[in-house]
Amino acid sequence: MQSQAAAYNYQVVRQFTVMTVVWGVVGMLVGVIIAAQLVWPQLNVVEWLSYGRLRPLHTNAVIFAFGGCSLFATSYYCVQRTCHTPLFSPALASFTFWGWQLVILLAAISLPLGFTSGKEYAELEWPIDILIAVVWVSYAVVFFGTMIKRKTPHIYVANWFFGAFILTVALLHIVNSAAMPVSLTKSYSAYAGVQDAMIQWWYGHNAVGFFLTAGFLGMMYYFVPKQANRPVYSYRLSVVHFWALIFTYMWAGPHHLHYTALPDWTQSVGMLFSLILLAPSWGGMINGIMTLSGAWHKLRDDPILKFMITSLSFYGMSTFEGPMMSIKTVNALSHYTDWTIGHVHSGALGWVAFIAIGCTYYLLPRMFGKTEMASKRLIELHFWIATLGIVLYIASLWIAGVMQGLMWGATNPDGTLTYSFVESVKASYRFWEIRLLGGTLFLAGMLLMVWNMMLTIRGGTAVNDAPVLAPSGTH
Ligand code: HEM
Ligand code: HEM
Repeated sequence: MQSQAAAYNYQVVRQFTVMTVVWGVVGMLVGVIIAAQLVWPQLNVVEWLSYGRLRPLHTNAVIFAFGGCSLFATSYYCVQRTCHTPLFSPALASFTFWGWQLVILLAAISLPLGFTSGKEYAELEWPIDILIAVVWVSYAVVFFGTMIKRKTPHIYVANWFFGAFILTVALLHIVNSAAMPVSLTKSYSAYAGVQDAMIQWWYGHNAVGFFLTAGFLGMMYYFVPKQANRPVYSYRLSVVHFWALIFTYMWAGPHHLHYTALPDWTQSVGMLFSLILLAPSWGGMINGIMTLSGAWHKLRDDPILKFMITSLSFYGMSTFEGPMMSIKTVNALSHYTDWTIGHVHSGALGWVAFIAIGCTYYLLPRMFGKTEMASKRLIELHFWIATLGIVLYIASLWIAGVMQGLMWGATNPDGTLTYSFVESVKASYRFWEIRLLGGTLFLAGMLLMVWNMMLTIRGGTAVNDAPVLAPSGTH
């Protein structure tokens, strides 16, 4: 379709959608490589491909490149269609695409070279941090600019979640990255000691809460009803869900710092708010899953819906597990063990990746002038391979984690330790092998997605824009 005066901007959505798949494969490939390095340490051949350098590359690639591109794509698609108006400033929207890809490229170069601020999920050095801040503020201008010129009286709840995610991530990033540069590639945090730790985990936990949760809940509120062709289960619940979730998340960060120099009462506040967080999290999950009530049969033959609804089950599971792990006595067992890594990936693979994959399958055909993906059977196969992969990944690490925690804490009658640390490492190998198998299956599913995407692109034509609907029309 040719450009016209009032047309939805699909070009930037399409670019981000395709890059979601590309960065998903890259980030997960690095995940499989580091999982293999834990099984075979001799794979650490050169320093820039060593575990310590590739681990932050993995986390940055999957969270900010794969997750980030998917958030940009879905929020840009949702905000224009629910506001019945094209994106505000196509030039700025295009800048966010190229700027974000540049950030990813700079991360892919600087992290293996060993340039890092040492703050988890915020490792990138200060020049890249400034670029991120510029791109992010542009993103906020495009998103909120579109909302301001909307043709509808109300703001659909998905946009509330996307908006909260955009604003909060800007705040988190700018505050946590404050640093004193000493050269182009080295800086020191503006904060010291326990304050630095507190700010880092206020950031870290809310990166989970807003980047990996609120934004993806925005996806849920738009794409689950669309794919199921049903209205959202309860609009009232979605508003309660929104306010309760964003208020509670902010206070839970100290659960990452149990038994540290952080004042004890602060740790208890973190634990309390983490326990409260179960309620809004499950409210959201129920709202998403119940959207299917009366149409459960659709799950049988719609693999995209399978991805979406399974993602909500994993969301429910990891948001039950998280509050349990935040209880100090449970954390005494789980902290530093593979249980944490199992929890991370039940959220990251089960919730984040699954909902992103579902939405990407929804968007791809629409971005290439088709009604559906080239092969539905390949999506079905992707779903089952990926589900098996997650189960192997998280079940093995739960067992490994509990085993490690118990071994580290075991004492003999005379008070000496029953096991040396290295014995717990040796006992973990079997579980790391199973995790590697699970991760490889998950990556194999992504490769099926690439193939399906290529088949879809080959049979279609790139769509740059689509006519804007009248406000009374469907979203
Ligand atoms: C109610 C919701 C949740 C709560 C209360 C919660 C709580 C926790 C707790 C207690 C830890 C362990 C901290 C430690 O011992 O070091 C943790 C780690 C983590 N969780 Fe969650 N969690 C929740 C949901 C999620 C979800 C949905 C995801 C992913 C999408 C996630 C991602 C992570 C990550 C990445 C870490 C590891 C942080 C690190 O040490 O690097 N969490 N969470
Ligand atoms: C093929 C899929 C994947 C594999 C094989 C994989 C593998 C790994 C491995 C081996 C680690 C290091 C664990 C350790 O230090 O003991 C890790 C950490 C991590 N991964 Fe993945 N991963 C995959 C997908 C993902 C995805 C899709 C996300 C997010 C959306 C993600 C987020 C993370 C995070 C946040 C950590 C750090 C956890 C922490 O510090 O507590 N991973 N991953």
